[in-house]
Amino acid sequence: MLNFDFQNPTRIVFGQGRIADLTKLVPAQARVLILVGGASAEKTGTLAEVRQALGERHHATFAGIEPNPSYETSLRAVQQIREGGFDFLLAVGGGSVIDAVKFIAAAVHFEGDPWAILEKRGRNIARALPFGAVLTLPATGSEMNNGGVITHRAKGAKLAFSSAHCYPQFSVLDPTKTYTLPPQQLANGVVDAFVHTVEQYLTYPVGALVQDRFAEGILQTLVEVGPRILAAPEPVYDDRANLMWAATMALNGLIGAGVPQDWATHMIGHELTALHGIDHARTLAIVLPALLNERRGPKRAKLLQYAERVWGLHDGSEDERIDAAIARTRGFFESLGVPTRLGAYGLGGAQADAVVAQLQSHGMVQLGEQREITPEVSRRILEAAL
Ligand code: NZQ
Ligand code: ZN
Repeated sequence: MLNFDFQNPTRIVFGQGRIADLTKLVPAQARVLILVGGASAEKTGTLAEVRQALGERHHATFAGIEPNPSYETSLRAVQQIREGGFDFLLAVGGGSVIDAVKFIAAAVHFEGDPWAILEKRGRNIARALPFGAVLTLPATGSEMNNGGVITHRAKGAKLAFSSAHCYPQFSVLDPTKTYTLPPQQLANGVVDAFVHTVEQYLTYPVGALVQDRFAEGILQTLVEVGPRILAAPEPVYDDRANLMWAATMALNGLIGAGVPQDWATHMIGHELTALHGIDHARTLAIVLPALLNERRGPKRAKLLQYAERVWGLHDGSEDERIDAAIARTRGFFESLGVPTRLGAYGLGGAQADAVVAQLQSHGMVQLGEQREITPEVSRRILEAAL
């Protein structure tokens, strides 16, 4: 096992009706800015519930954070916070709203041009406003980690950042808040959590038995509940609760402690979103199967473990089992209605070239746990995903 530090300060407040706990979670004297995405928080009644729980506290709302939140909109929120003297932020939404709030919280006190935060991937964040979250879409794990991804629309750049100052103080996870999600977003959530887990698990063995078994448990849970959630005529509480907790556990640092990690699927996927606007999780479903096949040599031992323990594949030669595990992965995404080919979005070889050029311009030239995914390898992965 590799050396590691593990500390996660975010308090999770889980279960039906827990939004009422905001009364206790938000400091009594706080001047609160609630931040939301488009119309969903208002339409579903979640925003009203949040406002009620805040009671007499001074509060206002900033609406309009987009999916794949923009730098430009985030700066408007920073201005509102400075002008209104807000000292506590409350994100109500999915990964996009929570990510934007992390960036906004850091940008409020940042000296100089806040774009530098993204250029330095967050290493230059010295402090951030305190914030909490009410999660409405299980997928990213942003509710219990310190990272975010912000898109500069004008530059066409989608860049990730992280900082120890950017953990939510608390996150409220009420599984019934997922009941209003459309099937596409539920499927996206299952795929995103699945790929987060794979990227911390499917590298090479370092004897991290607990991390491996936790990761396999999360993957098996997603394989079990994902299709059931999409097929169910009415939402089933425990399935939603298991999806929500699985997605949080997939990216809160626990399974990634002491193991090598391979975030190449995400880095290539971010460029696909920046260039073509494809939903985050949908880019991952395109890249991952092709990447696993391209990297089957360095990942061989873990691919065989994945085949056996996650998919129950015991028969055939090693290569047959690896082929079957990759095919099962692709089939799982497709069964959720998530395509695994660039062609499904009308994209071809020319667009693959543009993605590779973007990776180069963002310095993404040595990706993967072995740092061997050069632009040439990324190109082969994208061509295999056509
Ligand atoms: O904008 P509104 O109207 O709120 O609608 C949203 C949005 O259109 C809707 N929605 C959310 N909750 C709902 C709901 N609709 C009905 N009922 C509800 N309860 O869903 C749409 C998508 O929301 P979004 O927040 O964009 O989705 P997601 O949670 O998948 O977040 C994606 C973003 O997170 C980043 C991605 O890159 C992307 O920008 N990621 C963040 C990570 C992190 N911080 O650790 C890791 C991930 O890998 C990912 O990169
Ligand atoms: Zn993701």
